[in-house]
Amino acid sequence: MQAVAQAQPNIALIKYWGKRDVDRNLPAVDSLSVTLDSLWTRMSLEFDGQLQHDALEVNGVAAPAMLQRVSHCLDLVAGTDRAFARVESKSNFPIAAGLASSASAFAALVVAADDAAGSGHGKSALARLAGAASGSAARSLFAGFVELTAGDTRIEVCSISDCASWPLEIVVAVTAEGPKPVSSTEAMIRSARTSPFYSSWLEQQAADLQIARDAVQQNDFAKLAAVAEHNCLKMHSVMWGSRPPIVYWNQATIACMETIRALQADGHGVFFTIDAGPQLKAVCLPEAGGAVRAALDQTSGVLKTLHSGLGQGARLLEPE
Ligand code: DP6
Repeated sequence: MQAVAQAQPNIALIKYWGKRDVDRNLPAVDSLSVTLDSLWTRMSLEFDGQLQHDALEVNGVAAPAMLQRVSHCLDLVAGTDRAFARVESKSNFPIAAGLASSASAFAALVVAADDAAGSGHGKSALARLAGAASGSAARSLFAGFVELTAGDTRIEVCSISDCASWPLEIVVAVTAEGPKPVSSTEAMIRSARTSPFYSSWLEQQAADLQIARDAVQQNDFAKLAAVAEHNCLKMHSVMWGSRPPIVYWNQATIACMETIRALQADGHGVFFTIDAGPQLKAVCLPEAGGAVRAALDQTSGVLKTLHSGLGQGARLLEPE
């Protein structure tokens, strides 16, 4: 009845932005991501017949605002006739600031809940259940380079290359630590309703994904860099063109982009991507990692940098 699971966030190189079915949280587009290793969320969960309701703590503090989403996810994994659960989540990085904390949280939650309830869902089913809670969470079930295919009625997720095949590194430049002003769910719905660029975004996604998939399979960094930056900037263009506009960047985000451009001009193997928040994620060849981190640390407005290689999918841990 008790289980502990760990998952790491993932960073999309070809982005999920938009929903084909809001109620079932089905993505409108396919996406491709890398799963990290050194940032993590650990989820301890216990179903307890004595409890009168679900209880959630995040980093040691009661988190009633997130409880409804967590309870719904537990219903999907363990059934609505389940016992109530005590859930404790700990992360070693800032939450709700565009660092994909909901991805690692829901990926760890479904793995822990499945084990504690003895539900016996396979990994693909757990990815779908995590994705129903937060689309990007489905990808954190898998290791290395992960592709999510968005079908009309369900998603398929798989690892297309493991961490050892191409050991890229990620440097995250943290430029603000507060929660984001607009949730990604709300921002996606607004983008679809109001952005004149949304339909082109949908049309071009398959071509971007094909290029990125080829680049991963060929370990072609320049090809991956070009398509990933293009895809990221298109996603933000969709948001900027929405009404009211959705702008997640701050001045330091742009300063970080200039830092990456200067590193590229000096011949370093690095590119950037930015999600629904002001943090910049630099993806680099292993030999460039040190220079990238040093340059981002020096960039005006950067609060701190985090560094990670590529890692494993969500998994059970031994309870402490
Ligand atoms: C910009 O997975 O947080 O990070 O399904 O509404 O919970 P919901 O959205 P979420 O959105 C992630 C958006 C993104 C791009 C990506 O990770 O692919």
